[in-house]
Amino acid sequence: MKTLNNLQQLRDTIAEARQAGQSIALVPTMGNLHAGHIALIKQAVERADCVVASIFVNPLQFGANEDLDSYPRTLEADQSKLQEAGCNLLFIPDAQTIYPHGMEQHTLVSVPGVSTGLCGGSRPGHFDGVATVVCKLLNMVQPDIALFGEKDFQQLAVIRKMVADLNIPVQVFGVPIVRDHDGLALSSRNGYLSAPQRANAPALHQCMQTLKAKIITGDRDYPALFAQFNSELNAAGFRLDYIELRDALTLEKADLASTQLILLAAAYLGSTRLIDNLIIDL
Ligand code: PAJ
Repeated sequence: MKTLNNLQQLRDTIAEARQAGQSIALVPTMGNLHAGHIALIKQAVERADCVVASIFVNPLQFGANEDLDSYPRTLEADQSKLQEAGCNLLFIPDAQTIYPHGMEQHTLVSVPGVSTGLCGGSRPGHFDGVATVVCKLLNMVQPDIALFGEKDFQQLAVIRKMVADLNIPVQVFGVPIVRDHDGLALSSRNGYLSAPQRANAPALHQCMQTLKAKIITGDRDYPALFAQFNSELNAAGFRLDYIELRDALTLEKADLASTQLILLAAAYLGSTRLIDNLIIDL
């Protein structure tokens, strides 16, 4: 696996792969790779000849009081995991390459509708930062396919809409959530948890499953269901940010016609914010 930080070298290397008739896949990441990221790489290896991963901790998608500075950076370990998974090319641009005139002066990609509410409500500007950097990476690599995790379900919806609205010639694949043995969705932010917090963390997924089971058996008193969910989470040491039921296809508020629902939640354990989601097929 080649590691490049220079855009021209990236373009030249990809042009060579293209000339050799290879199809290209892109897996954008912020590094500190775990089995969730590696599942994306493995899917990419199945679907394309040349797999490009990127690692860039994108300052534009972090709020002023968020964890940009403390975000874990583990390049060497990431490189060996990528190599082992069959990744061909790793792109690690610096902020100067991505935002040469600074973030303030940069064109923003803003995706209306799906970016509002949920994580977009709690993290103003977050999805503009995500859409902008993903749009740039897609233009830099010009892959045939790009892969994203369903763990960040709203992010995936934002990217799908951006690609459709801007006619970006790429096929987007969503990859199911990879979980730890106890159900906790893998996340780079799990590393912030203390041992007792880590022991409590699976409660988020467990409480969501309990809620899902009640909905499936026909309980539709959502205010009561959500209140119950909130108190169960509090008992496990969490502070709820949001719990919502949406239409899984549109991400709009679920209505009576919705047959595929998605339960989306974000909650804090101490200062660590965890997110999770669960599909509900009615
Ligand atoms: P990051 O959090 O590093 O995640 C990179 C990709 O891995 C995303 O598509 C995310 O959904 C996926 N992923 C993370 N945890 C996962 C899990 N447990 N199961 C399956 N997939 C998982 O998401 C970002 O970076 C950034 O916002 C990015 C898209 C790179 C733009 O900066």
